[in-house]
Amino acid sequence: MSHTSIGGYHLGKLLIEGKTKKVYDLPDHPGLCLLLNKDRITAFDGQKAHELQGKAAISNTTNGLVFRLLNEAGIRTAYVDQCGEKAFTARKCQMIPIEWVTRRLATGSFIKLNPEVPEGYLFAPPKQETCFKDDASHDPLWCDEQIISSKFQCNGLLIGFDEIQIMRRTSLVVFEILERAWKTKNCVLVDMKVEFGVDEEGNILLADIIDSDTWRIWPAGDKRLMVDKTVYINLTAVRDSDLGNIKRNYSWVVEQLTSLVPPKDHLVVLMSSELDTFQGTKISAFCQSLGLNVELRGSCALRDPEDTLRIVREYEATIGSLVFVALAGGSNELGSLLSSNTSCPVINCVANRMEIEMWSRLNPDSGLGGATVLHPEAAALHAASILGLNNFMVWSKLRVNRLNNIIALKKSEKSH
Ligand SMILES: Nc1ncnc2c1ncn2[C@@H]1O[C@H](COP(=O)(O)OP(=O)(O)OP(=O)(O)O)[C@@H](O)[C@H]1O
Ligand SMILES: [Mg+2]
Repeated sequence: MSHTSIGGYHLGKLLIEGKTKKVYDLPDHPGLCLLLNKDRITAFDGQKAHELQGKAAISNTTNGLVFRLLNEAGIRTAYVDQCGEKAFTARKCQMIPIEWVTRRLATGSFIKLNPEVPEGYLFAPPKQETCFKDDASHDPLWCDEQIISSKFQCNGLLIGFDEIQIMRRTSLVVFEILERAWKTKNCVLVDMKVEFGVDEEGNILLADIIDSDTWRIWPAGDKRLMVDKTVYINLTAVRDSDLGNIKRNYSWVVEQLTSLVPPKDHLVVLMSSELDTFQGTKISAFCQSLGLNVELRGSCALRDPEDTLRIVREYEATIGSLVFVALAGGSNELGSLLSSNTSCPVINCVANRMEIEMWSRLNPDSGLGGATVLHPEAAALHAASILGLNNFMVWSKLRVNRLNNIIALKKSEKSH
């Protein structure tokens, strides 16, 4: 069936038609394209292929949920928005013809190529592989030197050593984020494949799609419970009931992704006086950029300890993780009162204080914990790393921050 418009987008020319998707130009939206999924499942470079009614919509939903999560975490992706049931809009890229595979557990082609390694072997750090995308030669494994020597030019960007590093690190972070998200559903992300493209401004973006065809998921870490395309790959004869089973698995994955909601948690910044407002606002801004639920409260622990403790109890009654930041001068009565009256983590922030005030926090009474940092940003980052233990989105934002710092450094090196 040929389309002229989808979801209100007027379609331009068909740019690429692959095994599972069609890519259309969007003449009214320069820089964007539309990817339309097909009701089709394929394996072995297309040698095995079946119609699967409903697969396009399931795949589109899966991909949308994954890419929105990655976009929120701060990964630079081509994904823009879902558009109707079976399609989505994306930044129009020239694709880099390399598949990036990241593996946590050994299985599939890895153990076939390396039979000495037992299935389920745990790679730490994850094992990363690159394959040249070429169906005719079955996507051979390539090393960096083969990629560099090919001198791929995508939208004017030459793919060299630095570009390979950016893609390698990004695929690792993408894997770690999704692995952590799946862990909250008691599922193991075994391995996955991603692709990158270069947009018209020369940015390397995570592109193509991520769905049940492109990763392996083992619920409860049990291979027998797999819910990904391997089920299809392993079938010698494909009956209608098998296709129904695959569709049920794929829909189950959508349900899990839909119910991936980060827990509610709180970071409470307590200030002893109006003088602390400036630093409090700074901490609050850093925290918000990390997706934390932050609240600024004022209470003087020395003059009104009942009020301070009432605020503590108020937050302790909320569900979810809780961290306090104490902003106070003098002899650290606020930090001490908090540390001695709650089991939640307490961070003392001593920005712009005298040295003697810093020592009072570094040397708390025996039996009291509490960390001490100098800068508002450090207080926010430390709080985020505590809350990130139970919140995959906060963890992901911290992880992407580290990645983007490295990428920004590489870019600034190039622009000089
Ligand atoms: N944002 C994008 N801009 C332009 N092209 C894209 C984008 N995202 C994905 N593509 C390309 O769309 C094409 C069609 O996808 P499909 O997965 O159906 O191809 P395929 O038959 O599997 O071939 P391949 O092995 O190259 O992926 C692929 O070549 C993919 O690289
Ligand atoms: Mg493809």
